Amino acid sequence: MNDLSYALIDNLPKAELHLHIEGTLEPEMMLAMAKRNKVELPYKTVEDVRAAYQFDCLQDFLDLYYLGMSVLLTEKDFYDLTWAYLERVHADRLTHVELFFDPQAHTDRGVAFETVLDGITSALEYAKRELGITSKLIMCFLRHLPEEQAFEALECACKHKDRIFGVGLDSTENGIPPSTFAGVFEAARREGFTPVAHVGEEGTAENVREALDVLKIERVDHGNHALDDPMVTKRLADQQTPLTMCPISNWRLKGIPSLSASPVKRALDAGLLVTVNSDDPSYFGGYLNDNYRAVFKHLGLTETEVIQLAKNSFAGSFLSDGEKQEQLDRIDHQVNTLRGT
Ligand code: HPA
Ligand code: ZN
Repeated sequence: MNDLSYALIDNLPKAELHLHIEGTLEPEMMLAMAKRNKVELPYKTVEDVRAAYQFDCLQDFLDLYYLGMSVLLTEKDFYDLTWAYLERVHADRLTHVELFFDPQAHTDRGVAFETVLDGITSALEYAKRELGITSKLIMCFLRHLPEEQAFEALECACKHKDRIFGVGLDSTENGIPPSTFAGVFEAARREGFTPVAHVGEEGTAENVREALDVLKIERVDHGNHALDDPMVTKRLADQQTPLTMCPISNWRLKGIPSLSASPVKRALDAGLLVTVNSDDPSYFGGYLNDNYRAVFKHLGLTETEVIQLAKNSFAGSFLSDGEKQEQLDRIDHQVNTLRGT
């Protein structure tokens, strides 16, 4: 029984919908780039880097996340980073990814927007050709910076609508309500970008409600605390608004005391379109399938629920209906093969 569930996790086609490309920077690559780009880091060895990854909250992680990405300077750096992630998750049977990037964290350091975008998208295009992985790119606004700077990022993105699909909102949540970014989200929607936002990670169900009402988001990133409010939960269930939950991230940032407290099972039981994702796998120590295994083991999921999560990953994506159906058929086919039926 268990063995089949693990085989399903290993072999089912899956999409990842909540992944920050800068959060895939492994310590080995970080140190190699620091050396080739002559960037000073407070770490000498891979062990030093890993030892620093002890977090008590989101902000503890964000401080090291921005420090780590300071080694990314050239188009090749962004290409290498993105390609390493895609090659890694190809082994997890990931077939589609909708990935976040944080341009303001780079343009703030003098790296050109196009350097970042060209590096990431050339790796995505290569992965489509070589690995058959499809993708969409979502540009996040950094919530700890003023809205004017988000407008500057949006202006850059408008020149590259062919390569940037959506806009998101990430970084510090506490004390900065979603409505702070109402203007830039309205402008982004008018320009045709699909809006999503990180809400209800450390913040309240009210942040989720406000992001739905004011930012008009089409998907909720994290959204754990939406479940604290029956009205918000019902609304998400009725509208089948997808949630991109990240169990290992939540545990490592002490949003939950243990993996068995992950809200993924409660979200499934409430009829939500919940998905499982890795967020920043290098920092939290788990890629996509590690997150599936974690919820399977700690929440006691059934085989049917594992299959549901894989299906939700496509149902909650921004693929076309035809593309979604193709992936769902591939899942059914793989399930039958594994069950020997
Ligand atoms: N939350 C907020 N900001 C982030 C995250 C996250 O999960 N990952 C990278 N930046
Ligand atoms: Zn995230």
